[in-house]
Amino acid sequence: MRKPIIAGNWKLNKTVEESIALVEDIKVKIMDFDKDQIPTVIVSPVFTSLKSVADILEHGQGIYLGAQDCYWEDSGAFTGEVSVPMLKDICVTYIIAGHSERRQYFGETDEAVNLKAKAILAHGLIPIICCGETLGQREAGQTDEVVKNQVTVDLKDLAEEQIAKSVIAYEPVWAIGTGKTCESREANRVIKLIRDTVAEISSRDAADKIRILYGGSVKPSTIEEQMSQSDIDGALVGGASLKAEDFVQLIKGTMLIRTSK
Ligand code: PGA
Repeated sequence: MRKPIIAGNWKLNKTVEESIALVEDIKVKIMDFDKDQIPTVIVSPVFTSLKSVADILEHGQGIYLGAQDCYWEDSGAFTGEVSVPMLKDICVTYIIAGHSERRQYFGETDEAVNLKAKAILAHGLIPIICCGETLGQREAGQTDEVVKNQVTVDLKDLAEEQIAKSVIAYEPVWAIGTGKTCESREANRVIKLIRDTVAEISSRDAADKIRILYGGSVKPSTIEEQMSQSDIDGALVGGASLKAEDFVQLIKGTMLIRTSK
């Protein structure tokens, strides 16, 4: 069975002090949760908060550290960038690659996402590779084609076992930060399509193992329905990950469904 994931993407929010306060709050609230039932919990603060949050998590509370981006070269003349070994050095385990905000505002391409995924996996970390269509593409009936193409390029030349341990997040761009959630059955349909694409370009075994999340206005009121779908393995969460109470509700919702599935 694929272990569910609840991953918070804090985006451009929170100072070091605020980041520490949030993660301490989450830690306390989930302290007594059943270790066998709890999903993989990930928090992804801004770069400046990563080390301070890492220091709190070091004592092992089952919360993993994620970074919101990285560069694919290890070091060199690349002003402003942060590399995978540098993130590994401060105990980052997961790295988001190709978030739609990076594609939209910073011109990130699928080729760049592929280079990032390769670098992340080469250093033994786990990429959370984001894909998803814009509203215009959905309205033009291009959703399946767009998502299939993104995933095919993003995963190009990765070995079967690398794909199996990766994470994909299907995040329809029109659902991110808008309060409009993609209907659960439709999200599940696209996620199934992504899984079949992985089977085509890699293997059925890799497709069965890869964890595929839904992202886009996930809230405590939507998580149980989302998690009860056959192919949705968890959520990548923006807004609702910034409040400990909401984030913990998402973790709880995931546990409720998994135990009754
Ligand atoms: P949202 O963001 O939950 O605020 O819609 C999701 C994301 O961008 O990963």
